[in-house]
Amino acid sequence: MTTVITIDGPSGAGKGTICKLVAQQTGFALLDSGAIYRLTALACLNQQVDVDDEAAVKTVAEALNIKFEVSEDKVLAILDGADASKKIREEQVGMTASKIAAYPAVRAALLQRQRDFSQPPGLVADGRDMGTVVFPQAEVKIFLTASAQERAKRRVKQLEEAGQKADYALILKDIEARDHADSTRASAPLKPAEDAVVLDSTALSIQQVLDHVMNLVEKAKQS
Ligand code: C5P
Repeated sequence: MTTVITIDGPSGAGKGTICKLVAQQTGFALLDSGAIYRLTALACLNQQVDVDDEAAVKTVAEALNIKFEVSEDKVLAILDGADASKKIREEQVGMTASKIAAYPAVRAALLQRQRDFSQPPGLVADGRDMGTVVFPQAEVKIFLTASAQERAKRRVKQLEEAGQKADYALILKDIEARDHADSTRASAPLKPAEDAVVLDSTALSIQQVLDHVMNLVEKAKQS
């Protein structure tokens, strides 16, 4: 028996942090589907593939040589044998990921790769379409959101803590552009599954969100 918990939502809503904590508490595997789109984008940039050419990007997605390795408390994203964990977080890679994620052929090419992460006793899947497309049968579906302003604030704090410069206005603009691209695309747009619980984390702490999610997981176990 494999229990699947899907956590979808816009960038910066806290999905990554919450998914990691839920995976630790449940002992389930973790799927960071955004990292797969980012690795595909990076592979295109490395190979100088024209990202306006859907068929060319699909070919890259099909041949993608990636793996995830657990190192201490981190998960490393490996592309063609090299650690790409830092590189895939760069802004250009994120924007390219968002662009190529709009291509249906690319999404189809990456579908089975994502489903393969599901293994007993369970999986926590982080993304945009985990509950709607990739794992429609998931036992627990959550749509985690927060206002764009709050998400921009959190990103600024994260960058400053990492010793990097952060421009709130620019970050907010970028978040709004990414939200718009992700939610208006024709293929697997960002939206809550009909049976998802929508959780707005704007005024909640990480612990409060975690408690809420773990309550839903416990309830699902009992039913
Ligand atoms: O979550 P993250 O910001 O790492 O994802 C990068 C980009 O990949 C998103 O902006 C989104 O366009 C795309 N993505 C997607 N479907 C997913 C996960 C990510 O389209 N399941």
